[in-house]
Amino acid sequence: MTDVLVIGGNHGLGLEWAKYYLKQGKKVTATYHDISKSKELFEIKDPNLAIIECDVTNKNHINSLANLVESFGTIIYNAGTKGYTKKFSTPDENTDEELDLAYKVNCKGLNAVIRAFLPLILKQPQCKIIYMSTGVSSIRDNRSGNYHTYRMTKLAGNQCLRDYDIHVIKKWIENNLDIALRPLLFALSPGLVNIGMGADIEGAMPVNDAIDKMVEVIKYIEKTQDTHGLWSFSGKKIDPYEIPTVLEEYEKKKIASLETEEVKPSKNFLPMREQQAKTTNETNEKRRNSVLEGDQKTFRKIGLG
Ligand SMILES: NC(=O)c1ccc[n+]([C@@H]2O[C@H](COP(=O)([O-])OP(=O)(O)OC[C@H]3O[C@@H](n4cnc5c(N)ncnc54)[C@H](OP(=O)(O)O)[C@@H]3O)[C@@H](O)[C@H]2O)c1
Repeated sequence: MTDVLVIGGNHGLGLEWAKYYLKQGKKVTATYHDISKSKELFEIKDPNLAIIECDVTNKNHINSLANLVESFGTIIYNAGTKGYTKKFSTPDENTDEELDLAYKVNCKGLNAVIRAFLPLILKQPQCKIIYMSTGVSSIRDNRSGNYHTYRMTKLAGNQCLRDYDIHVIKKWIENNLDIALRPLLFALSPGLVNIGMGADIEGAMPVNDAIDKMVEVIKYIEKTQDTHGLWSFSGKKIDPYEIPTVLEEYEKKKIASLETEEVKPSKNFLPMREQQAKTTNETNEKRRNSVLEGDQKTFRKIGLG
């Protein structure tokens, strides 16, 4: 049993995630890729920490990881690479090899991890898969055209996660499971953090601040189940997404089913039966309104209402 699995947890932000959850007394599994960059991870002496090797470009590694982890509460897919080697390189300067590697780590590896863990995800109410994304994956936000390989492949990662979130919602509904306990798959940007890729860049935020802020966003998403957007550490959506059709239809059906449950008192009913029927209708009305109100709140929160 692991509470939090950090994929790419050997240094940088991933290692900080592992340390944060260990401090909270959680059981953490952290994966490493390059052993030469994993010294600090291996030096942690905590019985709650398990360390496993995983190169996310290697399917065998991912499948063995999925076999080893029997259950989990949260997976943080933190593994990532910029792809480009030359700072401020223009799109035509990036090599095919750079783009291939970025795609494999930032998107294909994520896809392989979710696929390998899917049977477990579908058995675990309220589990979470969090993709460490980035604000630069937003097309709306792209004003410089820099970081080509990184932008393209992180954007692909967001889409990959969104497809799986909707897939899991569909399966959850098909299996008649409680929608309020559905697994949550979402992309979250840490902002510019003074560690790893963001180390020593002007304006980068201390890593502990970034983690504290992201933890608050995660709690909010748990409470509202609002996985419909690329979330920022600041609690705002960088890119809002439409509500999936399957979820909208599910809510409509729920409301319709409450309406057909209504009891219509006949003329011959005794006054007491009439009173009973009236009470039932009133209860149904209240339930229907609370569903509608919940819906409206959700739509308001995501800016659709
Ligand atoms: N720092 C920031 O300001 C910032 C901003 C936005 C988003 N992010 C995102 O946050 C995540 C962590 O970034 P960071 O700043 O901590 O960068 P980092 O220090 O370069 O860390 C990247 C992590 O990904 C792992 N990784 C790379 N290739 C891998 C592979 N083939 N298999 C498994 N793991 C692999 C690295 O392990 P190895 O070195 O052992 O390969 C390392 O653990 C990334 O996904 C990044 O896109 C960071």
